[in-house]
Amino acid sequence: MTKVGIFFGTDTGTTRRIAKTIARTIGRETADKPVNIRNAEVADLLNYEILILGTPTYGDGELPGKSTGNMTESWEEFLPKMKGTDFTGKKVALYGPGNQKNYTGNFASALRYLYDAFTECGAEIIGRWDIGSEYNFKQSGAVIDEQFVGLVLDEENQRELTQERLDIWLNMLEPSWF
Ligand SMILES: Cc1cc2nc3c(=O)[nH]c(=O)nc-3n(C[C@H](O)[C@H](O)[C@H](O)COP(=O)(O)O)c2cc1C
Repeated sequence: MTKVGIFFGTDTGTTRRIAKTIARTIGRETADKPVNIRNAEVADLLNYEILILGTPTYGDGELPGKSTGNMTESWEEFLPKMKGTDFTGKKVALYGPGNQKNYTGNFASALRYLYDAFTECGAEIIGRWDIGSEYNFKQSGAVIDEQFVGLVLDEENQRELTQERLDIWLNMLEPSWF
């Protein structure tokens, strides 16, 4: 069985809480304790063959970090450090909470920055998520070919759907670590 590394960015704790739920659902024997990306080095991510990476969206469609007014450094400061690192052979699954009502023109768009950065480093992105009919938003940078690049959640408007979405998504991913 392959170990799964879980790393997240957060300002107000939602993405951390989801990371913990993911770790608990996968089980401690497979998933290591989730780590805030502000405390991680690129080498820490390279320890894993499978990564689950979470980010909220701040500003207007931006990554969390200092320039979007977050309390701490986050993905914004981490991604430039990765430039030129080889993630070939690694599988990366992305998730992120957003707010489709208040930010309907940029719903969960920050996922796209992770998608682009890890794709550029050679990683294979797994766990794309169908938009389906439950979401209600105008536009999202996280959509490619009519699918989200990862699991998009909305704890402010669709909290009741989160657990079910997570269960389906993690079931989808499970063959990657078994
Ligand atoms: C100032 C601010 C800007 C935000 N911008 C966006 C946005 O552009 N798109 C989006 O989908 N959500 C946006 N959100 C919603 C957050 O992504 C959402 O609340 C998320 O759950 C926060 O995660 P965290 O608690 O892990 O920091 C914004 C929230 C705040 C407070």
